[in-house]
Amino acid sequence: MPIVVSGIRSTGNLHLGNYFGAVKNFIEMQNEHQTFFFIADFHSLTTHPTPSDLHSNVKQVLAEYLACGIDPEKSTIFIQSDVPEIPELYLLLNMNAYLGELERTTSFKDKAREQPENVNAGLLTYPVLMAADIIIHKANLVPVGKDQEQNLEMARTFARRFNRMYNVETFPIPRAYTFEGKDMVKIPGLDGSGKMGKSAGNAIALAESPESIRKKVMRAVTDIGPTETNQKKPDVIQNLFTLLEVVSTPEIVSHFNTAYSNCTIRYGDLKKQLAADIINFTNPIRSRIEDICKDDVYLSRVAKNGAEKARESASKTLEEVRKIIGFRKLY
Ligand code: TYM
Repeated sequence: MPIVVSGIRSTGNLHLGNYFGAVKNFIEMQNEHQTFFFIADFHSLTTHPTPSDLHSNVKQVLAEYLACGIDPEKSTIFIQSDVPEIPELYLLLNMNAYLGELERTTSFKDKAREQPENVNAGLLTYPVLMAADIIIHKANLVPVGKDQEQNLEMARTFARRFNRMYNVETFPIPRAYTFEGKDMVKIPGLDGSGKMGKSAGNAIALAESPESIRKKVMRAVTDIGPTETNQKKPDVIQNLFTLLEVVSTPEIVSHFNTAYSNCTIRYGDLKKQLAADIINFTNPIRSRIEDICKDDVYLSRVAKNGAEKARESASKTLEEVRKIIGFRKLY
């Protein structure tokens, strides 16, 4: 049975990009596959959260996952820092990860530009930790959004390199997973540029209030409108349609596509519909988040069970890796 691993940084609330880029596919897989989902709190240290933020973010993200439908009876859901085998594998993989390839990673270059005062070694070796997360469970499939494509490629490189170096087949080569052979998903932000992201300030969180969602959508960037029939949509408009496609019915999408093509579209109507459909989608999730957040006993039980199951799988792999590398006890 294929093994599936996916994760999320604990640096803020889950947003529509996280859901449609990764969580949705994961949920669909948990019925048939052996699935691991985790909260990457080590990864969040690259941006230096305060201790109290670190803790509350982990709890919030765990509650949000569960509210989305990740089922602890079907999936192993755990917190990265509860599994010490991960940082050990990270250390071992670091010995075969090279400065040149790490410096060339787009996400490293972006982060170094965004936070020039804090270009730490954790940022540089971020893809190595991510590789450890994935291959510690010998994952075959990794449901992630398009923005993680390069990090996943690095994980493949490190897995292959280990196998080749020691002439073993310890690690399967993990691949990105999307349903029905579709491309990896990239959910755009509301500011007309790039992708929806936590730090980009252009995200709609699953826990966000309807008023706030409405306000954000109504403020989204548009243009003066189509001037010729059947013209191609510019990026800012395509972004709104991409969001509509994930939350609305095909009939609604087709209605606005037709209106765009024959130049009768009114962006105000499009935005109103988009806001209503986003709210419709997030409402039940938001109320589940509120309930689960209050239930500390349930959250701690989920985290404890998850940690035990994840460690069982991780320690098996690590033991094998230690042996292959040549570690033998002298006592
Ligand atoms: P993170 O926390 O930025 O995002 C979590 C997941 O959400 C996806 N995602 C998106 N997908 C489509 N459109 C968007 N706008 C969008 N924004 C976010 C991401 O692709 C990701 O799948 N490095 C990872 C966390 C991680 C991980 C792992 C993931 C650490 N180790 C091992 C998988 C396997 C990250 O920062 O994701």
